Parts: sequence; C-alpha cells; structure tokens
Amino acid sequence: MAKSQQKKTKLQVLLRGSEIRRRVKALARQIERDCKGEPVHFICILKGACIFLADLLRELRLPVSVDFIAVSSYGKGSLPSGEVRITKDLDQSIEGMQVIIVEDILDTGLTLNYLYRILQSRKPKSLKIAALLDKPARRVKDIAVDYIGFKIPDQFVVGYGLDYAERYRNLPDVCVVPTAEE
Ligand code: IMP
Ligand code: MG
Repeated sequence: MAKSQQKKTKLQVLLRGSEIRRRVKALARQIERDCKGEPVHFICILKGACIFLADLLRELRLPVSVDFIAVSSYGKGSLPSGEVRITKDLDQSIEGMQVIIVEDILDTGLTLNYLYRILQSRKPKSLKIAALLDKPARRVKDIAVDYIGFKIPDQFVVGYGLDYAERYRNLPDVCVVPTAEE
C-alpha cells in the first residue's frame, strides 16, 4: 500500500528505511553514552517526529519517559507561514529533568529556536535536541542540535513521519516530492 502511494506521485527515495534504522541505532548508542544511565525525558514534537521517537525509544537501554507538544508553523502545504504557536502543551512539568526534544526535521530553525527558549525557561536539568533530518541551506535562526540523523539537500521530503498536507507519513523511506517542473 505504501509502495503504490510512492509510485503514483513519482516520489524519489532519498533515505531507505534500512539506512534510517541503522542511523537511529547509532544515535541511540550516542545518547546512552552521553546520558550515563540517568533517566531521560523525551519531548516529541507532533506530529512528524512520532515515528522517529517510536524507533529511537525502542533502541534505548535507558529509563525513559515521554511527553508530547504540538506547534503550528506551517500551513497545509510546504510553504512556511513564519508563525510558530503551541497548539498542544506538555502534560507535565520538566523542572529538574534531563530532557531531549525530538524533532523530525530542522529547516528554517524557527520552530526549534522558539520551543527551545520556552522549554529552557521551565528549568530542566539539561535540554538537548535530536532531529532526524537537517536542511542547513534554509536556516534562518541558528540552533545547536546535539543529535542529527542526516543532513539533506534543500528539497521537500515526506515519509517516516513527515507529511505533505497530512499525506505520506506512513512511508517507510524518506522521499523527495518532485517540484512542479520535474
Ligand atoms: P522550521 O521551523 O522551518 O525548522 O520547520 C520545521 C518544521 O517544518 C518541521 O517540524 C516540519 O513539520 C516542517 N518541515 C520542514 N521541512 C519539511 C519537509 O521537507 N517535509 C515535511 N515537513 C517539513
Ligand atoms: Mg514537524
């Protein structure tokens, strides 16, 4: 079903599911080394990071807890509105906790820059960022990311949690959506 979806819209595979799995395992080992067996509280930015979070958590040999936050920064298509707003806040306080924010893709950096500042003001013991994908070419706001899966070119991608107008989140690979001219 996912395969036929891929074919109809001529999506091009950028990162295969198997490659992503290997990289997620490596990130998990890095997080384990850095966190030294201490509990880690993961904050998943909905909705795109949900698959990355699910795979990452199952790789980690650490005591973990999870919370979710949702922000709106984009409209229904691929154009940024420039606006970032919390639409669903965390369920619990993060004060004193070792926290890692989990994001699907770092693009302009506006979303993470905003969220990082808000979450830092809630006094966690530490606050780090894990992003599966990074599109450095489009950066507007500087942001230091502690764990990055893959740097990718300036192309709009879908799959492995990422959507275009809410479609394609279920694709196992990360695929490029061709632009109108292609
Ligand atoms: P930023 O604030 O520009 O860094 O935007 C980050 C958010 O934009 C991500 O969490 C995604 O939801 C969305 N986004 C940015 N680039 C892409 C893409 O190529 N595909 C799907 N969503 C994207
Ligand atoms: Mg997102």
